[in-house]
Amino acid sequence: MSTPGGLGLKSSEHSGALDPLDLRRAFGRFGTGVTVITTRSPTGARLGVTANSFNTVSLQPPIVLWSLSDKSPSLAAFRSSGRFVVNVLALDQLELSHRFARPAADKFAGLACTEGLGGLPILKGCVATIECTIVNSQEVGDHVLFLGQVERYAHEQAAPLLLCNGQYLQGVGLAPGAGSGSLPAACAS
Ligand SMILES: Cc1cc2nc3c(=O)[nH]c(=O)nc-3n(C[C@H](O)[C@H](O)[C@H](O)COP(=O)(O)O)c2cc1C
Repeated sequence: MSTPGGLGLKSSEHSGALDPLDLRRAFGRFGTGVTVITTRSPTGARLGVTANSFNTVSLQPPIVLWSLSDKSPSLAAFRSSGRFVVNVLALDQLELSHRFARPAADKFAGLACTEGLGGLPILKGCVATIECTIVNSQEVGDHVLFLGQVERYAHEQAAPLLLCNGQYLQGVGLAPGAGSGSLPAACAS
């Protein structure tokens, strides 16, 4: 079926359940950054997962969100620590995206880290680190949604690692002549 906008329309209305693989491709059209979200378990183990579900919610108060699969072995630790750090990966940290997306006994082996609030691990060389206290969590479908209040943050003017259409990317500005590549003043950083 085609929409007036020319896109092939897929609806649960006529065909029953939506195709999860195709839906994932549709979600993937929305470009994001890539983060590693870290915490510490009750026994003191350092834990981290690659996540691109991170997003910002509110500036005042400063609230961010991300979601973790309800199958993740790290879920209990995020819940019990009550805090997380969002490590926003730089372009040269692709290896960390791969490393933290695979189960391993110690994903931090050999990595340069510092300790943040509550002793949580902060990865070195990221474009931003955002330290949060969990203010709400909720099971939503097959994920758990975490809302965190920002307690401390740091950021660098450096190229971030991006993800879109199932591919890692580097950001480039719009070509000259493609219109103003700048945000309106009210949105600009
Ligand atoms: C680029 C990228 C983004 C990801 N985003 C998420 C996410 O937002 N939430 C999630 O639960 N898993 C996400 N994953 C998958 C987890 O990183 C992966 O399942 C990892 O093994 C989870 O760590 P754990 O097994 O220690 O829980 C992502 C993977 C990649 C490569």
